[in-house]
Amino acid sequence: MTRRKKIYEGKAKILYEGPEPGTLIQYFKDDATAFNAQKKAVLEGKGVINNRISEYVMTRLGAIGVQNHFIKRLSLREQLIKEVEIIPLEVVCRNIAAGSLATRLGLPEGQALPRSIIEFYYKDDKLNDPMVTEEHITAFNWASTQEIDDMLAMTLRVNDFLSGLFGAVGITLVDFKIEYGRIFEGDFSRVILADEISPDSCRLWDSATNEKLDKDRFRRDLGNVIESYTEVAKRLGIMKDMPRVIEGGVS
Ligand code: TMP
Repeated sequence: MTRRKKIYEGKAKILYEGPEPGTLIQYFKDDATAFNAQKKAVLEGKGVINNRISEYVMTRLGAIGVQNHFIKRLSLREQLIKEVEIIPLEVVCRNIAAGSLATRLGLPEGQALPRSIIEFYYKDDKLNDPMVTEEHITAFNWASTQEIDDMLAMTLRVNDFLSGLFGAVGITLVDFKIEYGRIFEGDFSRVILADEISPDSCRLWDSATNEKLDKDRFRRDLGNVIESYTEVAKRLGIMKDMPRVIEGGVS
């Protein structure tokens, strides 16, 4: 496992060649970055928690028919995934005003939105992931109109399901970012959910107190980042799978 070929290294994850064609190994790092990597830290144990939370969320989504890349957990920080051709878009879905939407439109953070809003950002760190419209996406061939429709429909299903999943354990799903990829079946390709779903990529607020339980704790120097991610895992009932993180002894 240690001599695998590295396919891609991002800010929080590494992709290695998988054991069979069409598979990859997704490794979750402890590295945290914000503001396009201007702010950096190593948060010990984050990779382990995100590996497990993403597994849990993807598995639950798979069970309601939201196809995704997750195959199985391999180790504390690694999961086997389907190889996809990543669509170069970050798909953001928002239920409550926060972050860049609150800033851009001058909305108070915490204000409920009239309805869920989906936005697309073009994945390009050099350009700081600019927001784009469907016009840009089709004109530059990043995705077809059919793929955009599929992503919109899947994102709303993900939002509804995850709002319920987190809501049931006293967590409000404020917003989240997901990514999609293509898998090829003969001449056809299908869009499936890829990347990760974790407190790095969602805003999660305690429903009773509005306390932030996500990466905003790191972005805004609020402290207790790992404690908050651990709280999310605990509430989801998956902490029992990670005894070494609770003890703080993850290497
Ligand atoms: P934003 O309010 O900063 O645009 O973020 C919207 C959601 O997307 C929030 O849940 C955090 C997530 N996100 C990422 O996962 N990666 C990113 O690079 C950015 C900017 C946001």
